[in-house]
Amino acid sequence: MSVSIVVGAQWGDEGKGKIIDVLSAGADMVLRYQGGANAGHTVFIGETKYVLHLIPSGILRPDVTCIIGDGVVLDPEAFMAEVEILHKAGIKTEGRLIISPRTHIILPYHKKLDNCSETLMGKQKIGTTGRGIGPAYVDKYNRTGLRAVDLLNDTIREERIRENMKQKNFLIEQYYHEQPLNTDEILEQAAVYARAIKPYISETIDRVQQSLQQGEAILVEGAQGALLDIDYGSYPFVTSSHPVAGGAFVGSGLGLVTQHTEVIGVAKAYLTRVGNGPFPTELKGATGTLLRDRGGEYGATTGRPRRCGWLDLVALRYSMHINGLTQLALTKIDVLDGMSELKMAISYKLEGRELATFPADPVEQESIEPVYITLPGWSEATSACSSVEELPRSARDYIAFIEDFLKIPVKIISTGQRRDQILFQ
Ligand code: IMP
Repeated sequence: MSVSIVVGAQWGDEGKGKIIDVLSAGADMVLRYQGGANAGHTVFIGETKYVLHLIPSGILRPDVTCIIGDGVVLDPEAFMAEVEILHKAGIKTEGRLIISPRTHIILPYHKKLDNCSETLMGKQKIGTTGRGIGPAYVDKYNRTGLRAVDLLNDTIREERIRENMKQKNFLIEQYYHEQPLNTDEILEQAAVYARAIKPYISETIDRVQQSLQQGEAILVEGAQGALLDIDYGSYPFVTSSHPVAGGAFVGSGLGLVTQHTEVIGVAKAYLTRVGNGPFPTELKGATGTLLRDRGGEYGATTGRPRRCGWLDLVALRYSMHINGLTQLALTKIDVLDGMSELKMAISYKLEGRELATFPADPVEQESIEPVYITLPGWSEATSACSSVEELPRSARDYIAFIEDFLKIPVKIISTGQRRDQILFQ
């Protein structure tokens, strides 16, 4: 039996899609445990680009069973659109893509409320993806949400939506001063969603347990990143779920599996963030633009330009602790090719004091100044290297510095978009 949990170790967009795609070659099952269509996992197969928002990236491997777990919030519209793209590409989903009956459903009012709230907050907005994630988790924890199993039940579906709509429309009209939504239309849409996703809904707990007992290789796919975690991230500029590895145990039906479990943190060789919130090592000038251009740093879900900066080892160590990382996968190292020198934050300064960890206080998060170490860059193209030994000396030193600082190994290095641009050490 082996369980590998792959999590974003930064603010999301670390390149998890590619790492999961590569690792799923040896997997029997891929499980998604949190978030929703706010994620954007990009995978290149040859020249073809797939961007998956909800469906686990393992779907691109024909023998892998993919599970959308209990902790996910599923937008049926986004789900069906993705299924259609996969079917058009000749990728089969029948019998190998399963939605847990306990997965909560995103309805049009969640998306509406997400956008109303952002508009009202103006400059203070979180910068959400507008996919209804926060409002759907609010309903889940308020015990007024609809789960997949509830969506299938005509009576529960109608009663709960009617009841919710009273409150949602009150908020939309009276608080946000926007046009109300039409309850009958939403009921019709929900009935269409129920018919569309019904074939995919079936009990997942037994299926997952069976897989564990049979010693199958299970890959658990995190979305977003640890620094966006609702408890541990840069609150309130976070998502509403638990991207940290612990979220996998509650959101997937695995139970607490600690034996033979690897927790693989995916980290970009530099750092990006999309949406608002603190970012101590952000580069606002030419170097930031260079990283954005070279790294194609535009959101896979919203197309927004990502903010770019130097690798922050203090934040990464914090992430290692809250995730229990056992190893790192370092992505996009090729983006750093040709830069004469590279910096990494190794501590923070706050009003003359040194801080060794990522602070909880949002005011401190905004005012800390990173203390950098500067390392020499390299001019050679890492994307052409077929082994770690072939990497330029300075690139190996850059990786070794990270390992030394964090005291965990960097076992996977991604040197480009293609499946074969990956090195293991
Ligand atoms: P929400 O998850 O749409 O509510 O957005 C909350 C915050 O998380 C915003 O800053 C988003 O930009 C960020 N976010 C959500 N999903 C992702 C992702 O997959 N990658 C990077 N940032 C994300």
